[in-house]
Amino acid sequence: MRDSILLYINGEAHHIRGEAVFTPLTDYLRYGLQKTGTKVVCAEGDCGACTVLLGRLSGEELSYKPINACIQYVYQLDCTHIVTIEGLKINGLLNPVQESMMTCHGAQCGYCTPGIVVAMCGMFAEKATCNNKQPATRQDIKDTLTGNLCRCTGYDAILEAGTLVKDFPALPTLYPSAGLVAAFKKHQAESVEITAEERVAFVPASIKEATAFKAKHPQASWIAGGTDVSVFCNKRDFEPPVIISLSNIPDIAEIKTEGEYLLVGAKATLTQLEKATRDLYPDFYQMLEYFGAPQIKHAGTLAGNIANGSPIGDTLPFLYVMDAEVALEGVEGSRWVNINNLFLGYRKLDIKPDEMITYVRIPLLKKGETLKLYKVSRRKHLDISTFMAAIRLKRNGDKIEYVNIAYGGVGPVILRLSKAEAFLMKEGFSEEAFQKAGELALLEITPIGDVRGTKDYRLQLAKNILSKFYLDVAEGVPV
Ligand code: FES
Ligand code: FES
Repeated sequence: MRDSILLYINGEAHHIRGEAVFTPLTDYLRYGLQKTGTKVVCAEGDCGACTVLLGRLSGEELSYKPINACIQYVYQLDCTHIVTIEGLKINGLLNPVQESMMTCHGAQCGYCTPGIVVAMCGMFAEKATCNNKQPATRQDIKDTLTGNLCRCTGYDAILEAGTLVKDFPALPTLYPSAGLVAAFKKHQAESVEITAEERVAFVPASIKEATAFKAKHPQASWIAGGTDVSVFCNKRDFEPPVIISLSNIPDIAEIKTEGEYLLVGAKATLTQLEKATRDLYPDFYQMLEYFGAPQIKHAGTLAGNIANGSPIGDTLPFLYVMDAEVALEGVEGSRWVNINNLFLGYRKLDIKPDEMITYVRIPLLKKGETLKLYKVSRRKHLDISTFMAAIRLKRNGDKIEYVNIAYGGVGPVILRLSKAEAFLMKEGFSEEAFQKAGELALLEITPIGDVRGTKDYRLQLAKNILSKFYLDVAEGVPV
């Protein structure tokens, strides 16, 4: 058992013990190492000023992705390589992204600039790794910088700078990977336990170790991507006394198709999920585009979105109508639970104290099925939902073989609308039936008003969305 977190920063090994393990990476960089190029502005994963590149083991190589350092705590980062803005010089000189930003006057006050540069470097380094020699388009740069907010003025000079970058190297050219890969492989096989200031962080090397530890410490918090819990830690002084980080557990990082299912490991990121669902569930793929910035999706997980249990969790209505199942593993074995039966109340899940989510399996869409997802929020991209709906339908002409409807944001949990579903099965596929089903839906929901929308607004959405669905699919739905 190790008693330190092994973290490489700009190619240098750090063995971190004690209180520092329980700090955000930004604090460790800025106050511990005086690497102040990584800025902190929002401290909740919204602005990207704290962007760094996170290198994780992927086979025999390291895969680098931009993440928000403000919501990554050191206990999550065992056996990783962090590259900060200070570590992106090439032979002691500015790199091609920095040169181009200077030439194009792509910076004003500068708070956001290091994060923007790091995010762009990440994109160009990835292109170099894939041997993609095409120059970046303005759209490529926009997509890369979705999670980097500049408050000074427009992005025009920044976009211009991005399109002019040439010859950015792959990260292993700056930081040869062989030594890092060997160190990570060796250390990941051994679990880590660190106690400081009456707090404990455990980084297990296997599911067995994880569940045994959880059985002994039922109050422990599981941390996968930490994109939600870390915001609570930063903004609401939440200090989980015992933490179990999933970061070193092998096997549960994969997403693959297995028979009639898409199998998603608990550690697989939303970026991996986006890639895997592009052709399988196009509406879900589209929703993931709006879901969060690249930095969030490189860290956040589907399992985390489920465990969080929010009634406005963006992925949940989709999982409900697909009848997805969640694998729960405890000291005495594992079981699959249909997600429709997993939530007992507001943020209350039917998970035993020693159980962890290991996989989610989602049935593939069958031939002739239609799936549509709706998300209503004040801003289209990167915003918390006011209301969500998912509808999965199979019909034969005007006859509905089955229809699954789930709403989010109108009750303490995601709601399946069984009355509206039964009504539509009886009435068939017509505009009038969907209008009436919208009225029935109002009997099955209990929305409240909050900063994101009034109760009446949510009621109206809940009623109208079924008519919208009918109009969206009436033409062209496979029969
Ligand atoms: Fe804003 Fe980290 S400081 S995302
Ligand atoms: Fe000032 Fe971006 S240069 S916030």
